[in-house]
Amino acid sequence: RQITVIGVPMDLGADRRGVDMGPSAIRYANLQGKLQQIGFEVEDIGNLQVPTPETYEIGDTKLKYLREIVRVNEELAQTVTSVMEKGGFPLVLGGDHSIAIGTIAGVSRLQKRTGVIWFDAHGDLNTAETSPSGNIHGMPLAASLGWGHPDLTNCAGDGPKISPEHVALIGVRSLDEGEKRAIQENGIHVFTMHEIDRMGMAKVVEEALHIVTNGTDGVHLSLDLDGIDPNEAPGVGTPVAGGVTYRESHLALEIISQADVLTSAEFVEVNPILDVENKTAKVAVALIGSVFGERVL
Ligand code: ARG
Ligand code: MN
Ligand code: MN
Ligand code: MN
Repeated sequence: RQITVIGVPMDLGADRRGVDMGPSAIRYANLQGKLQQIGFEVEDIGNLQVPTPETYEIGDTKLKYLREIVRVNEELAQTVTSVMEKGGFPLVLGGDHSIAIGTIAGVSRLQKRTGVIWFDAHGDLNTAETSPSGNIHGMPLAASLGWGHPDLTNCAGDGPKISPEHVALIGVRSLDEGEKRAIQENGIHVFTMHEIDRMGMAKVVEEALHIVTNGTDGVHLSLDLDGIDPNEAPGVGTPVAGGVTYRESHLALEIISQADVLTSAEFVEVNPILDVENKTAKVAVALIGSVFGERVL
């Protein structure tokens, strides 16, 4: 049972600086100790090289830092693939959510049909045409589905890496107009806060698991810390009120853990500069504990 930790200090996909310190913040919150305590062998291969915004032109303002983001994601995909080839479980630490493009591309090279649980306040289903910000961290799910700029959809492998029927979003409460259209036109399963309140988190996660395991060979968990309520996870660049509680999020990850279907995971958008005493990274590590099998009894 080996987990390989890959840090990606990416902040080119988001407007607010500091999310590049996410991997350090999560390690500082005792990630390795937690995983070892559960019984895993942990290999931490450090951080990938990510250029700083000061040294590059922003480029097209509808797709900021496109070129640099693609380059890092190509390298991330290669790293994820080689970890999985050796039988390891890739645990990717962000960095902003644009890195999901590389993680998912890397996974999908070995696993042809990958289910994805996308835990997030947002849809991350924008393209250059629909994005209000031009920030690529609002586009990774679209890119992985094959929608958007060809440099993103063909990053680390041509075309779509996943298909819409194998994706379930949980915790959503902020969507742009174009994202709503993409969801409706493609029948993507979205469990918004409304469904969580009505059905309860246990039921939501059970349905989501059914969707992502139906006809797939493995499941990737892409967890954006802004899915959690900002009272509990304030260290994120794009907080949205009314999120998933600490307890609901642990319940969700415990149920996912019991299903024993994950083949890769990433925890993104931790920004210690906007945080209080590294609170959000501590939440991330606690959640990582739950999803890797930590139990009270
Ligand atoms: N929908 C907004 C945008 O596209 C916010 C995206 C936030 N994404 C994230 N990974 N935090 O700009
Ligand atoms: Mn988000
Ligand atoms: Mn449904
Ligand atoms: Mn996100």
